[in-house]
Amino acid sequence: MTTDTITRGRVEIRQVHKSFGEVEVLHGVDLTVEPGEVVVLLGPSGSGKSTLLRTINHLETIDQGEITIDGEFIGYAERGEGLLELSEREVLDRRLRVGMVFQQFNLFPHLTALENVTLPVTSRKLLGKEQAKAKARDLLERVGLGHLADRYPRQLSGGQQQRVAIARALVLDPDVLLFDEPTSALDPELVAEVLGVIRELADQGRTLIVVTHEIAFAGQIADRVVFMADGRIVEQGEAEQLLKAPREPRTREFLRRLL
Ligand SMILES: Nc1ncnc2c1ncn2[C@@H]1O[C@H](COP(=O)(O)OP(=O)(O)O)[C@@H](O)[C@H]1O
Ligand SMILES: [Mg+2]
Repeated sequence: MTTDTITRGRVEIRQVHKSFGEVEVLHGVDLTVEPGEVVVLLGPSGSGKSTLLRTINHLETIDQGEITIDGEFIGYAERGEGLLELSEREVLDRRLRVGMVFQQFNLFPHLTALENVTLPVTSRKLLGKEQAKAKARDLLERVGLGHLADRYPRQLSGGQQQRVAIARALVLDPDVLLFDEPTSALDPELVAEVLGVIRELADQGRTLIVVTHEIAFAGQIADRVVFMADGRIVEQGEAEQLLKAPREPRTREFLRRLL
C-alpha cells in the first residue's frame, strides 16, 4: 500500500558494492523504496538477496555506496568528507527503525514466546516491564497466538514460531520490515498462516521488503517486484507486469522454472 499520508520508512540504496574476501557479491545496487511501499525481491539462490537485505540494517557492512532510511545512515555517520562507522551501541539504536524476520525464525529457545517478543524492549529499557508485556501480548494476539504466549519455541510449530518472530520484529514499531524467505523453512501446510500475517502487515502502511519464492503471494502483496541475479538488479516493475510479462530473458527463465 502506498499512500501520500505515510511519510516514514523511505529506504534509499545507492551504488552499493559488497565483497566477501575477493568475491564481489553486490555490484553496485541502486534501489529506492518509498514509505509504505511493498517490494518483493526475487532471484535465484546466490544472487545476493540476503546480503542486500542484511546491508539495509547493517548486519553486513558495505564497501562502497550508501544506504539511508529517511535520509539517515544506519551504520555510519557523516564526518567531514567521509563516513565513519558507528559504534555497536549507536548501530543498535539506529537499527530499531528496521525489523527483520529470518528464514530460521532465530527465536531464543530458553525464552517463552512472550519473553522473546518482550526482549527487544526490556533489554533497552524502552518501556516498563508491565507495559512491555502488555504490548507483546497485544502483538501475539494480532498474529493469532495470544493463547500460546507462555509456550517455548520447541512447543510451537514452525508456522507459530515464525509468527512469534514477526511479533518480535514489530515490537519496536519499526518503519521498515525486512523478510528473508520467511516461509522457506516451513512445512507446506504452515505457509499460509505466515503469509496471511505478512499480508495484513502489507495493508497497514509500513515499508516492507520481502524476499520470497511464493510467486502468487508476491503478486497479491507487492506494489513492485525486483528481480536480482548475480548481485545486480536485472529488472523491476509493477508486480502484475513483471510477473506476467517480464522483459528480460533471465527474469522469464527464472519465473518459468519456478512455476
Ligand atoms: N558471510 C559470507 N561469506 C562469504 N560469502 C558469502 C557470505 N554470505 C553470502 N556469501 C556469498 O554471497 C553470494 C550471495 O549470497 P546471498 O546474499 O546469501 O544470496 P541469496 O540470498 O540470493 O541466495 C553467494 O555467492 C554466497 O555464497
Ligand atoms: Mg538468501
